Amino acid sequence: MKELFVWNQTYELGIQTIDEQHKKWLGIMNKLYNSFVKKEASDKVLSIIKEMEDYTIYHFSSEERFFKQFGFIQESAHLKLHNDFKLELKKLKTEYEKSPLSLTYKLMTFMQTWLRAHILEADKQYVSLLKGKI
Ligand SMILES: [Fe+2]
Repeated sequence: MKELFVWNQTYELGIQTIDEQHKKWLGIMNKLYNSFVKKEASDKVLSIIKEMEDYTIYHFSSEERFFKQFGFIQESAHLKLHNDFKLELKKLKTEYEKSPLSLTYKLMTFMQTWLRAHILEADKQYVSLLKGKI
């Protein structure tokens, strides 16, 4: 499998539950990338976009549960990032349904850039709060 997003140690937060979810999340993105590369049928691609969407919702709600449980001071700003991403993903999915060919590059670039920045910047903010506790 070709990997658009190769996992490396800089993405490791040192919180096992979250790191495993992030790996799985990137795995789905790589699966989507491969589906694009192989020019698979749009219904196949769409089912992976939906898988990505479902996993995103699952992953964000786990993080958000921990924020509540441990009182993360930047909770509202972080929630806004999550909600913006969910909305954008939904929008891109709808666009893809209408016009599968034009959207490939835009969707992949958006997700890759966002995920990388989110893990390396936003998620790093809660490491000191959650590490060793979950
Ligand atoms: Fe997050």
